[in-house]
Amino acid sequence: MKKINKLAMLVVLGALTLTGCAAQSAPAPAPTPAPAPAATANTADLQKQIDEIKGTIPKFAVPMREVGDRFENIQAAAKGGNWGLAAYMSSYMNKAMAPAKVTKPKEYPMWESFYTTSFKPVNDAIAAKDLAAFDKAYTSVIDNCNGCHASMGYKFIKIVKKDAPANTHVDYTLKSEPSDLK
Ligand code: HEC
Repeated sequence: MKKINKLAMLVVLGALTLTGCAAQSAPAPAPTPAPAPAATANTADLQKQIDEIKGTIPKFAVPMREVGDRFENIQAAAKGGNWGLAAYMSSYMNKAMAPAKVTKPKEYPMWESFYTTSFKPVNDAIAAKDLAAFDKAYTSVIDNCNGCHASMGYKFIKIVKKDAPANTHVDYTLKSEPSDLK
């Protein structure tokens, strides 16, 4: 009799263990897909947020202030023999316009082509450390700056050649090589 009881207990225990295992390995219920209207609302909300963020990114006016300042600094650096700084100022003058890729996608290519074509003689003169060529290219590119202003409806923004840099917090006379800009 005792033996039978023990056996019965073992059978019960075994069954319990099996049930436990089965319960553990049961697949988790599949997540219910979000109903379509809610998904649409989420997309619209996301788009609204993207548009709001885009609205805070500068268009042309803000980066153009930086373009103007760096443009003046390029000349001071070239004249001072700080060619690395001139190359740096030119590179970041261009990069300053990057937000317009997003905010003014139709107009940005005009800037891109200005920098890669009209502005190229300035960059070439910097790379060659040729001050005479630099002065000629720098003076003549100002017409292109103003040409674009006029064509985009801003003929009243006329850049003039200045002798002094916009910012005086760096040493323009420190001697350096164009290749110092990595
Ligand atoms: C692709 C056309 C384009 C080119 C090239 C261009 N600009 Fe501009 N610039 C503009 C536009 C457009 C504005 C007016 C701002 C706006 O539309 O938001 C402007 C405005 C400016 C301003 C006034 C910014 C302010 O609000 O105070 C300065 C300074 C300036 N540009 C400097 C330059 C210089 C220097 C160059 C040449 C090295 C140059 N720009 C080349 C299109 C151009």
